[in-house]
Amino acid sequence: MKGLILSGGKGTRMRPITHTAAKQLLPVANKPILFYAIEAIKSAGIEDIGIIISPETGEDVKTTVGDGSRWDLKITYIVQDLPLGLAHAVKTARPFLKDDTFVMYLGDNLIKDGVAPLVDRFNKAKVDAFLLLKEVANPSSFGVAQLAPDGRIICLEEKPAKPKSNLALVGVYLFNNKIHKAIDEIKPSRRGELEITDAIQRLIDTDFHVGSYVLTSWWLDTGKKDDMLEANRVVLDEMSDVSMLGELRDGSRISGRVHVGKGSILKNCTVRGPAMIGDDCVLENSYVGPFTSIGDGARVTHAEIEHCILREKCQIVDFHGRIEDSLIGVNVELSRSNYKPVAFRLMLGDDSKVEVV
Ligand code: DAU
Repeated sequence: MKGLILSGGKGTRMRPITHTAAKQLLPVANKPILFYAIEAIKSAGIEDIGIIISPETGEDVKTTVGDGSRWDLKITYIVQDLPLGLAHAVKTARPFLKDDTFVMYLGDNLIKDGVAPLVDRFNKAKVDAFLLLKEVANPSSFGVAQLAPDGRIICLEEKPAKPKSNLALVGVYLFNNKIHKAIDEIKPSRRGELEITDAIQRLIDTDFHVGSYVLTSWWLDTGKKDDMLEANRVVLDEMSDVSMLGELRDGSRISGRVHVGKGSILKNCTVRGPAMIGDDCVLENSYVGPFTSIGDGARVTHAEIEHCILREKCQIVDFHGRIEDSLIGVNVELSRSNYKPVAFRLMLGDDSKVEVV
């Protein structure tokens, strides 16, 4: 069995953070989302993984992930020239996939239990495709499955205005080689994409066997800022592997599960976990509250930060205020000015979102 991770696409919903970077490289608990997908696939014993990349962000993905040796895996990069849909990505990967069975994993999804239990179910059920479903409150934002009372899938629809159930398609799928012919037989959808949902519907319509399983553990699709913060919250909440590799000075206090990376210095700070502070950070006279992760090389002084993701090398200096529910990009500088008149002085990229109270 092979793994296929989709890490192409446009990432428009995460702009401006993704103007310059792939959304799949955004960090959850200081680790790129994409690494969780790689590790989930590896945990099922799969060692041959193809990663779909786009021409715009592909180099970044390659540099960050490397050749797979750090996980003892073989990684093949596959360039998809345009983001023409999930089924188009599978078509593009055909020379890599050959006729092997494969697990397809959307690179911006996170699931709790890895893919090993799924691969087991797929093998036992002897089906041509196997889907993961999850009950959600907002099904129209996803692919939606309608099930018969015996659990068989009756139909699948991509982001329907009037969903027939609350069962969303989770971004992890298992296929054998029958999917390729089904993809060849579908047409682009209303949004102009070759939808994997339509290809699976085609399998159902042509009497192939499609199995499914309704997940009860968490699944997160990290498409938007609040999804990222929720993913960060859930992963930090479960983090067990915490170490204090930095230095606590001047009465700094830590409570709960807090990881502090090497070379980091905390002076007169209070940190309440779960929280993660990367390597080589400097934090002074500040409070870091639960569900916060701070990337390597960040600097925070005179600030209160809670339920946030601060990326690498960002600088929140002499801020004298509280920041919550925020995602702050690499190298961002945020400070309080002494100049009069008192005013906000901003340099914000296109599509930035700022909420001032
Ligand atoms: O997250 C689950 C949902 O993912 C499913 O419920 C939907 O049925 C499925 O279509 C998909 O919907 P999204 O709108 O969330 O897909 P998105 O465009 O965000 O793409 C998912 C991942 O695949 C993302 O990492 C980007 C990558 N991608 C996307 C496209 C369209 C590619 O690599 N190539 C592409 O052409």
